[in-house]
Amino acid sequence: MRKKIVAGNWKMNNNLNETKKLIKELKNELKGFEFDNTRVIIAPSFVNLQQAVKKTEETKIEVSAQNLHQAKNGAFTGEVSAEMLVDIGIDIVILGHSERRAYFNETDESLALKVKTAIANGLDVIFCFGEQLEDRTSENHFKVVEEQLRNALFGLSSEAYNNIILAYEPVWAIGTGQTATADQAQEMHYFIRNLLAKEYNDALAQEVSILYGGSVKPNNAEEIFSKPDVDGGLIGGASLKAEDFSAIVKSI
Ligand code: PGA
Repeated sequence: MRKKIVAGNWKMNNNLNETKKLIKELKNELKGFEFDNTRVIIAPSFVNLQQAVKKTEETKIEVSAQNLHQAKNGAFTGEVSAEMLVDIGIDIVILGHSERRAYFNETDESLALKVKTAIANGLDVIFCFGEQLEDRTSENHFKVVEEQLRNALFGLSSEAYNNIILAYEPVWAIGTGQTATADQAQEMHYFIRNLLAKEYNDALAQEVSILYGGSVKPNNAEEIFSKPDVDGGLIGGASLKAEDFSAIVKSI
């Protein structure tokens, strides 16, 4: 049975003290929560990952990085390798977030390399993709999403999908308060699962968790998560408040 997943992308927020405080509050809010088949993940900034790993020891909360470099090591000033992440106890990385694509020139091709490196190092990948507003208004959203997946992921072997979590994030819904409707999310997730079934096989398609991201809040999470092909969410703004994030976790 595929996993339900709620992941909090903290982006470039929270210094060390704020990181520790938010984790402490989250642990309190999630006391008694039955994790069963659910993964709860937080993604603080690189500099606070080590402390976050320490502070979540003996809890079921998992810690993810927000990026990595595809090379093993070398002259890449300012970058962080997969090995460095694994070394400090990280086993998940977010790749392909629309902010990385927009502000740091990440492309499907460079992301394909990053995904391969992450998987070769045993990391789970939360792979983000999604259309721009103009793609949706011109009704090209299915085509754009298919191309993103084809270019970045469809070179992978079936086994690699044991480490892949998909996160459909329509760019027009990120940080805008304008969430996709639950039906729009379901329609796209269904399309993606069919695509996986065609490209690989049905069993694989049924096992891959597909998260929705883009203005998920405590007041809309339940409806979005109730859809059969929506396996959870990637949460930005609302993951910065323990009360909101845990309310979203509890609505899974
Ligand atoms: P948001 O961000 O929840 O603030 O819209 C989602 C994301 O960027 O992953």
